[in-house]
Amino acid sequence: MKPYKIGYTTGVFDLFHIGHLNILKRAKEQCNFLIVGVSTDELVMNYKKKSPVVPFEERKAIVEGIRYVDMVIPQTNRDKFSAWEKVSFDVMFVGDDWKGNPLFNEVEKDFNKIGVEIVYFPYTKGISTTELKYKIKSKETVI
Ligand code: CTP
Repeated sequence: MKPYKIGYTTGVFDLFHIGHLNILKRAKEQCNFLIVGVSTDELVMNYKKKSPVVPFEERKAIVEGIRYVDMVIPQTNRDKFSAWEKVSFDVMFVGDDWKGNPLFNEVEKDFNKIGVEIVYFPYTKGISTTELKYKIKSKETVI
């Protein structure tokens, strides 16, 4: 028996890498049905001031293709509570790089009131979209 019924996690999932796969796999180990909110290009542009390399529809299709994922929805804003109002989940999973971040401190408070848990998974060390872009740019890799 898995501890949760419906789980939720979010991200940009740009240049899909092993850190992304690990969090989706761990999340699915904990719930029967996993929903993933993939950030839209507009949202990423808004808060990171740069566009993802891979456009939204392709990032969405890639995440949908992962066997651990049951459903993908667009993440159009950073308000996790409004996501819960649309798809009521029992738990939200996130990498522990977000633990203690003011955004998630607020989310924890909101979710506490409605009995939704937040589970932090260990961040996969040594890999991130930023790291991949850096490697490509610095030509550490053969293209
Ligand atoms: N994540 C992880 N381990 C990594 C990279 C990401 O556990 N090495 C998790 C994040 O904590 C988040 C999810 O995967 O819950 C989606 O992360 P995302 O921001 O899309 O990927 P990053 O590679 O961290 O992107 P960036 O370098 O642009 O911050």
